[in-house]
Amino acid sequence: MVKLAPSILSADFSRLGEQVQQALDAGAEYIHVDVMDGHFVPNLTIGPPVVAAIAPQVRAAGAVVDVHLMIEKPERLIPAFVEAGADILTVHVETCPHLHRTIQQIKESGVRAGVTLNPATPLVSLEEILSEVDLVLVMSVNPGFGGQSYISASTARIARLRAMLDGRGLGHVELEVDGGIKPNNAALVAKAGATILVAGSAIFNRQKSVAEAIAAFRRELG
Ligand code: DX5
Ligand code: ZN
Repeated sequence: MVKLAPSILSADFSRLGEQVQQALDAGAEYIHVDVMDGHFVPNLTIGPPVVAAIAPQVRAAGAVVDVHLMIEKPERLIPAFVEAGADILTVHVETCPHLHRTIQQIKESGVRAGVTLNPATPLVSLEEILSEVDLVLVMSVNPGFGGQSYISASTARIARLRAMLDGRGLGHVELEVDGGIKPNNAALVAKAGATILVAGSAIFNRQKSVAEAIAAFRRELG
């Protein structure tokens, strides 16, 4: 079954705990945290204290604290995010000249390691690291903001990555997709091979309750 990872980037930060709880109560398996530094991406968001604030309630619900690091030199902050309660730390290939070392650092810290890449970065840049990671995240928008449109070429990329993973006997590696995911494209993305769907603005918005939004995804995913 495909898992859902609501991104708190679109949540109402003035009542973050309540919004996270709504997502957990509706059965979200992951809570996705978008960390941006104003350098690697043109936006500035949250850091370890916010992860520390929500990690206990996420873990109490049996869900996963999924931290997406859109920051330069992520190796400097890995210990702080581990200490804050991250379960998965995902780094961008574009920010890691010593990617193998950074992935080892994450795993040696006792948490799961993920790797991701921007829409224009070739998938071959992942080839040598696939066997070392627990999760691969395909960005289906250019990172930096919630509420952008799904880049349609992502579907073929997801399918190619699915074939790369399965062809190497790495079918157990999670394939997460992030950006522009809505109920109306969720089934397509799942069919291409995704195992986790991130959704921010489709889950946290003024049109629907969090529970209704998550139910809409489940209906489409079957
Ligand atoms: C984009 C972030 C995403 C974002 C997704 O840089 O990595 O996780 O929150 O938001 P939506 O679902 O609104 O595209
Ligand atoms: Zn993200």
